[in-house]
Amino acid sequence: MSRKILVTTALPYANGSIHLGHILEGIQADIWVRFQKAVGNECYFFCADDTHGTPIMLAAKKNNTSPEEYIKKVHLDHEKDLRAFEINYDKYYTTNSNENKELAEEIYTKLKSKGHISSREIEQTYCEHDKMFLPDRFIKGTCPKCGAKDQYGDNCEVCGSTYSPTDLKESYCAICGNTPVLKFSKHLFFKLQDFEKPLRNWLTSPNRLHEGSKKKLLEWFESGLQEWDISRDGPYFGFQIPGEENKYFYVWLDAPIGYMAASRKFFETNPSVFDSFWKNPGSEIVHFIGKDILYFHGLFWPAMLMGSDFQTPSKINVHGFMTVAGEKMSKSRGTFVNAATFSKYNDVEHFRFYMAARLSSGLDDVDISFEDFISRVNSDFIGNLVNIVSRVATSILDKLDRRLGNISPEGQRILNQLLASKEEIMKNYEDRNFHKVIREVTSLGDVVNKYVNDLAPWILIKTDPEAARLVITDALNAAKILFSYISPIVPKASQTVAEFLGYNSGFTFQNLNSFVENINLPIYKAISQRPDEKGIKSMIEETKIEFEKMQTTNSTVGSKSPQGNIDTKSGLEDGTISIEDLVKVELRVGLITESNHVDGADKLIQVTVDLGEIGKKNVFAGIKAAYKPEDLLNLKVVVVANLKPRKMKFGMSEAMLLASGSGENLSLFIPHREAKPGDLLK
Ligand code: MSP
Ligand code: ZN
Repeated sequence: MSRKILVTTALPYANGSIHLGHILEGIQADIWVRFQKAVGNECYFFCADDTHGTPIMLAAKKNNTSPEEYIKKVHLDHEKDLRAFEINYDKYYTTNSNENKELAEEIYTKLKSKGHISSREIEQTYCEHDKMFLPDRFIKGTCPKCGAKDQYGDNCEVCGSTYSPTDLKESYCAICGNTPVLKFSKHLFFKLQDFEKPLRNWLTSPNRLHEGSKKKLLEWFESGLQEWDISRDGPYFGFQIPGEENKYFYVWLDAPIGYMAASRKFFETNPSVFDSFWKNPGSEIVHFIGKDILYFHGLFWPAMLMGSDFQTPSKINVHGFMTVAGEKMSKSRGTFVNAATFSKYNDVEHFRFYMAARLSSGLDDVDISFEDFISRVNSDFIGNLVNIVSRVATSILDKLDRRLGNISPEGQRILNQLLASKEEIMKNYEDRNFHKVIREVTSLGDVVNKYVNDLAPWILIKTDPEAARLVITDALNAAKILFSYISPIVPKASQTVAEFLGYNSGFTFQNLNSFVENINLPIYKAISQRPDEKGIKSMIEETKIEFEKMQTTNSTVGSKSPQGNIDTKSGLEDGTISIEDLVKVELRVGLITESNHVDGADKLIQVTVDLGEIGKKNVFAGIKAAYKPEDLLNLKVVVVANLKPRKMKFGMSEAMLLASGSGENLSLFIPHREAKPGDLLK
């Protein structure tokens, strides 16, 4: 009997680009979904943009647009980026939808009517200037532990200690810089503690969660479950809470409901299918998430569903974080790569193959390296699996009029050996141990390649063409099995092989036993090209440039990940700026009076620029690829003199030098030699 499964990935925030970390999750879930479909289960796959909350509201404002317009544009990019990696959602929706609003209201009303909502006044940090309560990430100040300046309200990036925003010294509003005040307001709470028993049962029942995740969640029970603040005061971009004034659902309340909303939209013409998942214990709901959001998915979300009479998740698959060469992904090192930058220069199926080779069911971080990526794809995919087909399907087959013969007895023995791995491979897919699938399939590929090598049809053809024809037939049928096995991982490559062998609707796990004999084959179309270093180099270069651009256009504020903001261009919607905007920029002539290497920075030079009566300013300029510090001394340059000082890793940068070009071709703007330091450009 076939299973009914609804699968989701976590909803990316709508204020940042899709990056390779998101792609890891998307690929992991997509492979699993494609596998379920390939074995004949009824499986649907949903995701959406997570569009609500303060960071998105402010990002829109900064872009001089409405939140609705802002999230619309981001949605188009997100969906395009994810689909480019062949992550095949049945519906990629948004949390800012009618379906989501209705479901959020329905769930909240149900919880309230059953007494699971409480309310009380709480005191929070408020900015009188911006007229809003400030989320932790929007309050900055001096760390109470180590004294580091400009730290966020929840934790210090210098000493790593965590605290509450009221502990910060000299705190200021990250939006306007003013000192916030404390203010009372009424908040609504979801009484998580009401669900202590059913939650414990839920999460300890077999197969729900990996041991590691279960253990983490159980730790929360030890200190006693706490009620959860689910309301935010306006202004807030989100859904208004029914029956309340100027109160909105906290973004994390309606975000997971977005899973339901996407499926409600997809099944809109047939609402009973929606119920067949969300109200029926006979079907499965499976979430894929990263370990950072386990708390929300393992406690609040199932409790909300229990309290509103919906089906709880059958399974929560938690993955670790992507690291590159053993380190956290970093924009400045060029390893925090956006999905679009990757797919622009590289073959996404290579990445799917590589990810599969690296993924397992555990919580451990997933470390990748781009050198390893190239070498693995070259040896295990191109050099092994693709090679089985390409080596026998080109000129040698031409010499045999492109006609296959029969499968030989020795060939049949090999095919049987390949087929015998089916159960094992299926189990590894089901358990998300994709690295074992790759290991098994490549070792079977070795067997086939050895067989072809030993019989050397390219030599055999000279003395016994019919014998060569049999070897080729054996090899291609073996390739059929292997490319069926990896079809969830590399769907396009697998489809290319399928069409080549006459299976136009693709390989599934159900037609593994059918073979091709005595037919003519078309001209061979390349299945996949070798990956090359150039693609990776260009990608890393572009990522570094994106980072530099972001540093100059954007001070990041208020998302869960510090890199989570998209480039913000201030200005009008058509990309022009008004004359009022223009006169705000103070361009002045500066004389470089000091210029030094910066220890530990491979791009930066530290310069002191003399701006005449304005005084001297310290600048860190990313120009080292084009200039040596000694070349800069006594040079006059053009400086943005009234840029808000930015704290960089190496110190404060108080202005910016104007330049064009990038890398070695970067060139500073040099004013006429009569220009005097401090002169204003107009
Ligand atoms: N919007 C919330 C999720 C709401 S789900 C109801 C959110 N968004 S996110 O954009 O920050 O992250 C989306 C998913 O990507 C999460 O599962 C997160 O763990 C995952 N990842 C984000 N960065 C990642 C890596 N560097 N590596 C692996 N996964 C990462 O959280
Ligand atoms: Zn403010």
